[in-house]
Amino acid sequence: MADYIDSILKENRVFYPSDEFSRKSYIKNMAQYSKLYKKSIENPEAFWAGIASHIEWFKKWDIVLRNDMGFFKWFEGGYLNACYNCLDRIVKSGRKDKIAYIWEPEKGESKTYTYGHLLKEVCRLANVLKNMGVQRGHVVEIYLPMIPELPIAMLACARIGAIHSVVFAGFSSDALKDRIQDSKAELLITADGSFRNDKVYPLKDNADAALKDCPTINKVIVVKRAGNKIRMAGGRDFWWHELVNEKGIADFCEPESLHAEESLFILYTSGTTGKPKGILHTQAGYLVFVYQTFKWIFDIKDNDIYFCTADIGWITGHSYIVYGPLANGATIIMYEGSPTFPEPDRFWRIVEKHKATIFYTAPTAIRALAKEGDEWPGKCNLSSLRLLGTVGEPINPEAWLWYHRLIGKSKCPIVDTWWQTETGGVLITPLPGATPLKPGSATKPFFGIVADVLREDGSKANVNEGGYLVIRNPWPGMLRTVWNNPDRYRHTYFEKFGVYLTGDTAKIDEDGYFWIMGRVDDVIKVAGHRIGSAEVESSLVSHKDVAEAAVVPFPHDIKGQAIYAFVVLKKGVKKNDALKEELKQHVAQHIGPIAKPDRIQFADDLPKTRSGKIMRRILKSIAEGSTDYGNIMTLAEPSVVEILAKNRVG
Ligand code: PRX
Repeated sequence: MADYIDSILKENRVFYPSDEFSRKSYIKNMAQYSKLYKKSIENPEAFWAGIASHIEWFKKWDIVLRNDMGFFKWFEGGYLNACYNCLDRIVKSGRKDKIAYIWEPEKGESKTYTYGHLLKEVCRLANVLKNMGVQRGHVVEIYLPMIPELPIAMLACARIGAIHSVVFAGFSSDALKDRIQDSKAELLITADGSFRNDKVYPLKDNADAALKDCPTINKVIVVKRAGNKIRMAGGRDFWWHELVNEKGIADFCEPESLHAEESLFILYTSGTTGKPKGILHTQAGYLVFVYQTFKWIFDIKDNDIYFCTADIGWITGHSYIVYGPLANGATIIMYEGSPTFPEPDRFWRIVEKHKATIFYTAPTAIRALAKEGDEWPGKCNLSSLRLLGTVGEPINPEAWLWYHRLIGKSKCPIVDTWWQTETGGVLITPLPGATPLKPGSATKPFFGIVADVLREDGSKANVNEGGYLVIRNPWPGMLRTVWNNPDRYRHTYFEKFGVYLTGDTAKIDEDGYFWIMGRVDDVIKVAGHRIGSAEVESSLVSHKDVAEAAVVPFPHDIKGQAIYAFVVLKKGVKKNDALKEELKQHVAQHIGPIAKPDRIQFADDLPKTRSGKIMRRILKSIAEGSTDYGNIMTLAEPSVVEILAKNRVG
């Protein structure tokens, strides 16, 4: 990471928004930002109450914020419905015929949904779910690709008070099984298959395999998407199109009046140890937070066409393809497939075709597309764009500058948005009409957010001194707990300093700008996706030939980080390339292709302390090709390090 930061600091230019952009934006300059920021942290309850009054409540809250022994409650006593706020409220404001979604499939014609049409589709599915016995507080698992049925399913759950738990369609059957078992979902919504790079992925087959060990699921709704052959289990599996088109299914479903702190959704994410944890978000605070962050950070106006390339299976899609933009009545482009198929101009063609004005993607995609050459964006008309964004990992200045020049034509501000599954929405970010941009910095905290960098002993780090990134105060969009595991919530996020621990390291420069340096824990950001080294290790050791495994990140040109695995084989097993390939496939099958190690090194021994703890810090240096191992004399067998370094795979 040190190298990365050094390379960022070589780019010293500061980029300002144009006067025209600033004049038309919500937050027009830093003076306005500073004034409002001060107000927001001096009296956060008044600030958030003011924002909450912009959405519609069935009953207003009694109390804005309460700390219930470390579990934060927002807007208690208030009742509302997130789906109602995303759809009915927009329809009632005269925008029934405004386009909500433009869907760009990998194959075939694009499809549009107006707010009125979307409301009808959501209501019909909500009625189907109710007929199938789904009730308020039940968990519905959703394992769907990027098709319109995915947001429709989420919103139908939200309408009736069911809790959705979306599993990224790129995850394997084992990963799906783990998540269903933990969430105890009763119904699964999936598809026959999904398309990516002209291949069909058998989602329903994966689901069938997972469901063998998921007794809580008794009904499955299947979207016909890819037309691949699947098996439908009688009495359990039903086709979506048949259910929603049944006679007697009404076009309207009354939205449930839900308490502010009832659960809205669970989304699983990787942590330091063990299995992924179910991050829980609740109704009101989440909605208020994504509504306002989306509005100001993306400076959304009624005629904008907003294109976010994330998959809804991750938090970015939940907050900024579904709830945030819909609550603002925005027109959203969602796409199916991949950035480079059929050609590396997929995004730019979509921007051109629909005249997108705002574009939000990940640094890994920018790096991959930049590598393909400037001619691809050069062939497309990108003049409709006025604002760009990035998320998911630090962006290196080279990628930032390419994005700014080639895609933004040097006129579009770039919002580098820092946040997490746990934070619900963006916490550190530029405001596009106000904040001077330094490439590689997520700049300043959003309103109401008190971010800081601490040393190991909890004292405040100096200017430009790296340390733990923490958030000192609660905010409405924060996670409420870890599903079924309140101890893990307390331990992971609050035990170390008593304030919210992000798991990232960062530093704050002399202008108060935040520079995110990376993770402190054993989470690896592969192409912006969050993978726990513990998950990959346990997948590797589940292979019959593996005795022990240790997994660390190494820098990768496109993916930012990639996975390097040190594997100790069982006695007598032959070390060869075929086995390496088999192990990679094993992990892909076990977790999903995104978790596949790029490099595997067979080792006879791993560096361990005398008490047997693997020293990942040393392995990370070896994987990076660095000889800066720190103190190795505490190792049970210091000579291991040299042997491993000599045999490094590079
Ligand atoms: O390490 C930070 C990185 O992504 C982590 C959160 O991952 P996840 O929960 O999957 O959510 C990703 C999408 C919000 C953070 O702890 N991260 C996210 N955004 C940025 C970032 N690192 C640097 N700059 C960012 N803009």
